[in-house]
Amino acid sequence: MRDTLWAGIFVLVALTFALVSQAGTEGAQRPLDTPLAVYTAACSSCHGDDGRGRSRERVGFDVELPDFSDCSFATREPDPDWFAVAHQGGPVRGFDHRMPAFGEALSEDQIELAVEHVRTFCEEDLWPSGNLNQARPMFTEKAFVEDEFVFTFGAAVQEPYAIDAELLYETRFGARSQLEVVVPFAGLDLAPVPGEPDSGGWTGGIGDIALGLKHVFLAAESTGSILSGIAEIITPTGNADRGLGKGVFVFEPALAFGQGLGPAGFLHLQVGMEVPAENDPGTEAFWRAAYGYTFTQGLFGRSWSPMLEVLGNIDIEEGASPHWDLAPQIQISLNTRQHIALGLATRIPLEPGHDRTIGVWAYLLWEWFDGGLGDGW
Ligand code: HEC
Repeated sequence: MRDTLWAGIFVLVALTFALVSQAGTEGAQRPLDTPLAVYTAACSSCHGDDGRGRSRERVGFDVELPDFSDCSFATREPDPDWFAVAHQGGPVRGFDHRMPAFGEALSEDQIELAVEHVRTFCEEDLWPSGNLNQARPMFTEKAFVEDEFVFTFGAAVQEPYAIDAELLYETRFGARSQLEVVVPFAGLDLAPVPGEPDSGGWTGGIGDIALGLKHVFLAAESTGSILSGIAEIITPTGNADRGLGKGVFVFEPALAFGQGLGPAGFLHLQVGMEVPAENDPGTEAFWRAAYGYTFTQGLFGRSWSPMLEVLGNIDIEEGASPHWDLAPQIQISLNTRQHIALGLATRIPLEPGHDRTIGVWAYLLWEWFDGGLGDGW
């Protein structure tokens, strides 16, 4: 009995040894089925074993190779974008044709493995993954941190007529933080004041300029969740007498949460308060949610992200009732690099009689880190 056991163990050990040494000698014939093997065979001749890119002399062209070990660059793109570039070649995202197409030479699984290996070059886990970044809703602030310019324009299409415009600048710093500046402009059709012949008519100008700080508290790629805190100071730069501003400093703390849902669905949530430095106007609480889904045109083309936002707010005072708005909308990527996008929305107040009107809104978004306005078309 003992002998049989020992014989059994011997055969097992010998078999394992034979299999392992055979795998070792097969070398180049081994199937490309690990991230490192695919990367070494297909990508490292240009991108280098360390992902920093080989020198111009080595690759024989002078297009600059990306540095995949630079986390600030390498964490922001979602996997499908890198998959598209490796499958179709650089031009599919407006990059140089010297980034070759591997769609014929490698299987889709192998391309995924190569991209998986590219992901390992950034070694700091603090950086939130680009896979957590979703399309931008018109009103709900995202939890993801961005380097962006967004120009927003809105118009009330019912009386009292008004237009609103806003330039937003966002810049990331560190792995998880972002600074933002909002410069609003407004135009209003003021109602005439009885007994004052020259009153009423259109007025316009700069509104209350805001400064904000955002920080990502939690970024979990495994569950597709991201949570951030936002602190904004709204300064009384707008003329309050003409309805262009609130006339006082307002502090706006908020939490923003993003959740990926299935392959291409997503949810954004934001809750916060507007707390004025003085008693008038009163404190307000708000909550916003946006549910959306991103469709890709063809396999690697333009993205279309229809969304529905639900917006609510309430004055913190006795007897106040909440206001609700619905905002159906869409975001469309405009160029092949996909760093310039258009958003279109309508905002519909759900309860009439609050002097709140139906509005149409549009934004033009430019992720300036990914290239200039004229790049990647
Ligand atoms: C013949 C050289 C060469 C090979 C081989 C090569 N690449 Fe590239 N790759 C480039 C160049 C050049 C660029 C930069 C293009 C640009 O910036 O316009 C690039 C860019 C990229 C980018 C775009 C990064 C960004 O800016 O968002 C990704 C992703 C990428 N390569 C992945 C791969 C993968 C994965 C492989 C292997 C399957 C691979 N590359 C093989 C030359 C190469």
